[in-house]
Amino acid sequence: MNETIILGVSSSISLYKACEIVRAFQKREFQVRVIMTPNAGKLISPRLFQALTGHEVFLDLFADSSVERIAHIDLARQASLFLVAPATANVIGKFASGVADEFLSTFFLAASCPVVIAPAMHENMYLHPQTQENMARLRSRGIRFVLPGKGQLACGDEGWGRLAQPEAIVAVGLEALSRSTSLTGKRILVTAGPTRESVDPVRYFTNRSSGKMGYALAEEAASRGAEVTLVSGPVSLPVPFRGGLVRNVETAAEMEAAVFDLSAKADIIIMAAAVADFRPARTEANKIKKAGADLELTLTRTTDILAELGRRKSSRILVGFAAETEALEDNARAKLQDKNLDMVVANDVSQPDTGFGSDSNRVFVALRDGKSFQTEKMSKREVSSVIFNEIEGIIERKKNSPDP
Ligand SMILES: Cc1cc2nc3c(=O)[nH]c(=O)nc-3n(C[C@H](O)[C@H](O)[C@H](O)COP(=O)(O)O)c2cc1C
Repeated sequence: MNETIILGVSSSISLYKACEIVRAFQKREFQVRVIMTPNAGKLISPRLFQALTGHEVFLDLFADSSVERIAHIDLARQASLFLVAPATANVIGKFASGVADEFLSTFFLAASCPVVIAPAMHENMYLHPQTQENMARLRSRGIRFVLPGKGQLACGDEGWGRLAQPEAIVAVGLEALSRSTSLTGKRILVTAGPTRESVDPVRYFTNRSSGKMGYALAEEAASRGAEVTLVSGPVSLPVPFRGGLVRNVETAAEMEAAVFDLSAKADIIIMAAAVADFRPARTEANKIKKAGADLELTLTRTTDILAELGRRKSSRILVGFAAETEALEDNARAKLQDKNLDMVVANDVSQPDTGFGSDSNRVFVALRDGKSFQTEKMSKREVSSVIFNEIEGIIERKKNSPDP
């Protein structure tokens, strides 16, 4: 059966351009089903899209009297891509906060396919901090936007907010569709979060890693169709994908055991966890009392998991993270060589607005073949997308010139 595109249409004057989007997908042999908001139904009759697609249009959540099927869930199972064009400020706000009070926004929560949103609205609505915040929130969940252009708006004003060109919207939709299976068949192991090294039953050493970068990587890998295993230190984040395996660990030694247990089955390993380099030489069975003035502790080295993985690398792709506070690029390049990595991703953790704990990051990426670049500040999910685009490039190059 041909893949099904679900096109969401909300109440912007530009909704007439959605007809061209329907046609463009149909020309490429996709099935198109349309959901309209009730307000869009006040601007134009659903019959237009019904005639164009040859199918009923979904608009009223409670219209279906069938007892066997619940339309929005049924439709979510069939969807390969959910494209909303035009998306009003209202729809974007509802998606960002999980409001599900009509068919379109309810479908958004029920769908697990890739989502692409093409906003259209007056410039003031578009540039309103609330709209921008809602968009940033959705972006951090991996949702793609086809940004509006500048020009004459429906009210006659000039400004930002015009719906992007239908061809551009279709192109991003097709890209999202192909990305959703670009890593199908690949087994990816991601590590995330800090470790905890106990001094006694009460106290431990840890670090400032929140796990957000590793969780975003695992989420992005799953969204590209990969089979993901996540080894996670103690964090307070929800499991970022459905299916797949999550192994929770606490100490560097547990992280090491889990990684070596699971690494043989992985095609790609991304070490984003901040594993302790040192642990207390001994862990006291009872709480250390504050008897003396000072307390001396001896710390001992933990295993360098990444270096060990580099030694046993074979044909696997190995990606390491470097958290640096100085000489970022030099230290990252040195790590790439010393640990036999395919790629290193370095971030300057001394910056307050990126790195540890933050929702965004700005990273320096260096590849074994000499390519290197610095990203802008973006959400950790967007950084993950940049990283996986590079990984897919490495896979492609390996395919074309396999190791001797
Ligand atoms: C003629 C007309 C044009 C409108 N165009 C837009 C628009 O382009 N973008 C937008 O965000 N809202 C627009 N609005 C306002 C929305 O229709 C309004 O916020 C509505 O509540 C959104 O409903 P919906 O998101 O369920 O479709 C327009 C309203 C009218 C009456």
